[in-house]
Amino acid sequence: MLRTPQEVVTSGISNEPEIFTLFSMRGRSAIVTGGARGLGITLASALVEAGADVYCCDILPEPSPEEWKALQNKAANLKVRVQYRQMDITNAEQTADVFASIEEEIQHNASEGKIKLLRAVIACAATQQEVPAIDYLVEDFERMMRINVTGTFITCQAAARNMSRHGKGGSIVVIGSMSGRVANRGIACSAYNATKAAVNQLTRNLACEWAADKIRVNSISPGYIHTAMLNSLLKANPQLLGLMQSGNPMHRVAKPHEFKGAAVFLASDASSFTTGTDLLIDGGHCAW
Ligand SMILES: NC(=O)c1ccc[n+]([C@@H]2O[C@H](COP(=O)([O-])OP(=O)(O)OC[C@H]3O[C@@H](n4cnc5c(N)ncnc54)[C@H](O)[C@@H]3O)[C@@H](O)[C@H]2O)c1
Repeated sequence: MLRTPQEVVTSGISNEPEIFTLFSMRGRSAIVTGGARGLGITLASALVEAGADVYCCDILPEPSPEEWKALQNKAANLKVRVQYRQMDITNAEQTADVFASIEEEIQHNASEGKIKLLRAVIACAATQQEVPAIDYLVEDFERMMRINVTGTFITCQAAARNMSRHGKGGSIVVIGSMSGRVANRGIACSAYNATKAAVNQLTRNLACEWAADKIRVNSISPGYIHTAMLNSLLKANPQLLGLMQSGNPMHRVAKPHEFKGAAVFLASDASSFTTGTDLLIDGGHCAW
């Protein structure tokens, strides 16, 4: 039974909040960038299941139709809202406008004086490209930095500005990658890996700057996941799948749902003392 995080329920033997209360996002709103498909829409679905109203933002004009329909049905059953907004995270002005329009809508939807404030943002939007470093065009390298690093910063800044305005604080979850820690065997992706290392450090700095405003910032660094991003790499080079699977002791690639628990943990009060950290979820790839 999910309760609102505000309803502190005691266990009977102590004054500690119960576990389902800690993980609940009921009475809160959340934004997920990269929310049109893949990992982003799966994490949006996790937040909906945890009780949040969720806004998916992505550069694509429309979300993936099948996944969006399923998410809408889930939200309707759970009596929460899901909305989609087209937004380019590299455009600071547009991102600020979209966050402001969401803030207005949140105020507008308030019922009986209860406002579902924006309390969680998952920065999941990113891009990938495979080019040998020796041939990498500087323009392409800079484009990758612009989307994955500057775009993530723009998202986090817009989130923190909103959360400090309402004063209740919140949680920002940055999606990194195990590729921020290791070079990927068989894949020439120096620019992508540099961006993922950069967002891990960005997470630590933002966590330290914003803790006083009750804003927590953490990252999740996934291993290989079956999504459109991975499929485009495999389309160009099908034998990579075997290399990816054999790269971890579990001998498999993850499914997007295997990150839902970590995302809700970091987005909710379940992680209230967690900030500036990175959850490496890679099937043991980096341990091997
Ligand atoms: N798939 C994997 O194996 C894997 C592994 C580790 C980390 N990740 C990370 O997970 C996240 C999600 O990746 P995915 O696998 O679902 O890939 P994906 O390509 O399916 O999703 C990425 C989404 O980001 C959006 N996007 C790209 N540029 C944008 C911009 N400028 N503004 C707004 N949206 C933009 C895309 O349109 C897309 O919907 C990324 O941060 C990725 O780096 C993926």
